[in-house]
Amino acid sequence: MHHAIDVMISQQQIEARVNALAAQINHDYQHAGSGLMLVCLLKGSFIFLADLCRQIYLPHQVEFMTVSSYGANTKSSGQVHIIQDLLANIKNRHVIIVEDIIDTGHTLSYIKNLLEQRQPASLEICTLIDKPSRREIEVAVKYIGFSIRDQFIVGYGLDYNQFYRHLPYIGIVRFEAE
Ligand code: PRP
Repeated sequence: MHHAIDVMISQQQIEARVNALAAQINHDYQHAGSGLMLVCLLKGSFIFLADLCRQIYLPHQVEFMTVSSYGANTKSSGQVHIIQDLLANIKNRHVIIVEDIIDTGHTLSYIKNLLEQRQPASLEICTLIDKPSRREIEVAVKYIGFSIRDQFIVGYGLDYNQFYRHLPYIGIVRFEAE
């Protein structure tokens, strides 16, 4: 489908907000010792994670998990698939799930419940983007970068059919009649 992309959140705005989130985490976990672990939900969160973790000066580990709920659709299927589970043990660790976007909430609700069963010392969520109007299931999110209206966005890790993840800004996809 023909479409154009309009800048919605600039590279500079993202940088400032990511730095502020990292500062909050640095403050909140200053007594966590070496127990802090960031769990990056792939694929969408890889750029956010990379920028965020480089502003966290506390000792921490970074682990990855690949999940998918959208596939090639622009709407959430509501079913969460674990494509690759965590390779690390999170028991007694202070875990922060790093996510690019929370939309219906199904993905994070499912992943949070799953990880809670593994007995971390604490478990919080850090999302770059929140679309509160789309929520279908309640999830407590401690760290939120930007709260936005229901618009289809790409860039900074977010895709449209696996494209545009590399954009340094977040853009709105504007579909045009052919
Ligand atoms: C996106 C995003 C979240 C999820 C949010 O993942 O990264 O994980 O959807 O939607 P929800 O709140 O409605 O569950 P996607 O399935 O598109 O995979 P990706 O990260 O590989 O792009």
